[in-house]
Amino acid sequence: MSESSQISNLKSQISVGIIGSGTMGIGIAQVAATNNYKVFLYDQNSSQTEKSLEGLQKVLDRLVEKNKIGFEESENIYNRIKFCTELKDLKDCDLVIEAIIENKEIKQKVFADLEEIVSNDCVLATNTSSISITSISADLKNSERFLGIHFFNPAPLMPLVEIIPGLLTAENLPQKIYDLMKSWGKIPVIAQDIPGFIVNRIARPFYGEALRIVEEKIATPAQVDEAMRTIGNFKMGPFELMDLIGIDINFAVTETVYKDYFYDPKYKPSLLQHRMSEAKLLGRKIGKGFYDYSDASQDSRN
Ligand code: NAI
Repeated sequence: MSESSQISNLKSQISVGIIGSGTMGIGIAQVAATNNYKVFLYDQNSSQTEKSLEGLQKVLDRLVEKNKIGFEESENIYNRIKFCTELKDLKDCDLVIEAIIENKEIKQKVFADLEEIVSNDCVLATNTSSISITSISADLKNSERFLGIHFFNPAPLMPLVEIIPGLLTAENLPQKIYDLMKSWGKIPVIAQDIPGFIVNRIARPFYGEALRIVEEKIATPAQVDEAMRTIGNFKMGPFELMDLIGIDINFAVTETVYKDYFYDPKYKPSLLQHRMSEAKLLGRKIGKGFYDYSDASQDSRN
């Protein structure tokens, strides 16, 4: 496909497909819908999409209560998001952003299936935090239309978006996506396809050191978080952040970065985090991680 035919219409109205309706997928859907884009939201687990849409309704209700948006606008945002039960429902999308589990093989399979469904002009993007963009796209029939669009959590609130071209991405595509993200009110930055890109490369030693402090019983998660909030002036401490991100996702990202830097000990994953991931103590999304969220009205830090 010629470069010129790729998303030549990105600046006009386009349909956005989102695969994965978990923490990131529903947030990205909200961002696109708020910017008047029609969104097709698909997850292999329909009950997750139902749960996420219920959560979105509550978020929008709160925005109305706080007078940040009007009631009609909240309805329009919600109604722009179409609940899809099959991947093929994304067939008419111009841009598809994948936000599923952080696993290279599973992502590759989803994109291989997607290529059979969407038009050749559809731009394919992954929200991966750490996996090589080049490697996800290498076996596609058309790798030129593929790149990373990495939102941060929570996507509607965090302005930064990393745009990551792989080695095979068409030269003009990152700038088009950069312009699109700016039009969505984001602060985009074009990053290189290196493990962890910019932010997650910096963040790995930060989480790793915090976890080692707890493993060595130097301090508790609550003590570390308090120190980072009060002395470090961070909005959230590393354990609060890991609970927000998801312990499984955070662990998978560290594992990928560690392996991709040829086992540099600087990025070595934590055994504590591994065990918590195995125990499915995944943080806020399941109600328990380093902190207990089972009763949201209580201060759950321990
Ligand atoms: P999540 O675990 O909240 O949601 C993932 C969703 O993908 C689940 O609902 C699951 O049912 C669905 N899924 C899994 N395999 C699928 C498949 N083959 N087809 C369709 N749906 C499938 O994960 P989260 O946190 O939203 O992360 C998604 C991606 O975004 C990952 O690549 C992660 O590294 C990245 N990311 C995560 C951030 C975070 O703070 N959680 C921040 C930035 C990026």
